[in-house]
Amino acid sequence: MTIAAIDFSRLYRDHMALAGKPKTGSAWDIRAREMNRREKKSRYADEFIARMDLSDARTLLDVGCGSGAICLPLASRLERVIGLDYSQGMLDELKENIAAQGITNAESLHLAWENDWSEVPECDIVVASRSTQVQDLGAALAKLDAKARKRVYLTHLVGGHSIDPRIFDAIGRQPRPMPDYIYALNILHSRNIHPRLDYLEGDGPLTSVSSFDELLQRTAWSLGGLDASECARLQTWFEEVMANGGLKTTVRWAFISWEKAGDD
Ligand SMILES: C[S@@+](CC[C@H](N)C(=O)[O-])C[C@H]1O[C@@H](n2cnc3c(N)ncnc32)[C@H](O)[C@@H]1O
Repeated sequence: MTIAAIDFSRLYRDHMALAGKPKTGSAWDIRAREMNRREKKSRYADEFIARMDLSDARTLLDVGCGSGAICLPLASRLERVIGLDYSQGMLDELKENIAAQGITNAESLHLAWENDWSEVPECDIVVASRSTQVQDLGAALAKLDAKARKRVYLTHLVGGHSIDPRIFDAIGRQPRPMPDYIYALNILHSRNIHPRLDYLEGDGPLTSVSSFDELLQRTAWSLGGLDASECARLQTWFEEVMANGGLKTTVRWAFISWEKAGDD
């Protein structure tokens, strides 16, 4: 058997199906306010933007834009930026940020990765920052590539731990990592796209958590609920961890980029 026989899109979908139920737009609504506040203090977006090449670019599409961590700081350097997200709560935060910063060339699109994108305009640059944990990564990558005239930039988790792996240990469940970035590289390779790869650091998923209630809410959100004994174990772990330096961790993101053919 050679690598050409492996259907990496299928492998990804199978892995994703094992990792649990997909999140809905309204699940993200619940996180929108807190994520927007947290993002303002994070260095991740600066590091993402520092790796981008905007030369000859006038337009940008930000897929799974959230509150605009990537598209809004870039608005002053471009003619038009469009944030696409399936969470109305995230788009409300995006609109608040647009108004607060007096930005006049940013728009939002309330759509999911999985919807029909025929109305989504082609843009010079397309980005997907921390938003590619979808059911069908092969289809998502094809959409990014189809909408980009010049370059695509995305980040995908290294290791697939969107939940702090210590949580599983603490509550006595088997860790269920999500598919990590290696699937994206292999899917692109199978399509004759040979991306650049870099890495950047971001805050770990629980870095901003300061109380047990917050930890409980966040863990229940991620895992779809906890039973009483898991809650009790989580509380014991929380007290131990807070007495020993707190919940601050970092995660690594693979930063994957490619130029459209003819634009090298
Ligand atoms: C971790 S946040 C990242 C937000 C922003 N790109 C950033 O880096 O700060 C993931 C975002 O992807 C969006 N998202 C997740 N699945 C999606 C889907 N199937 N269609 C559209 N947006 C989705 C969520 O609503 C959320 O805003």
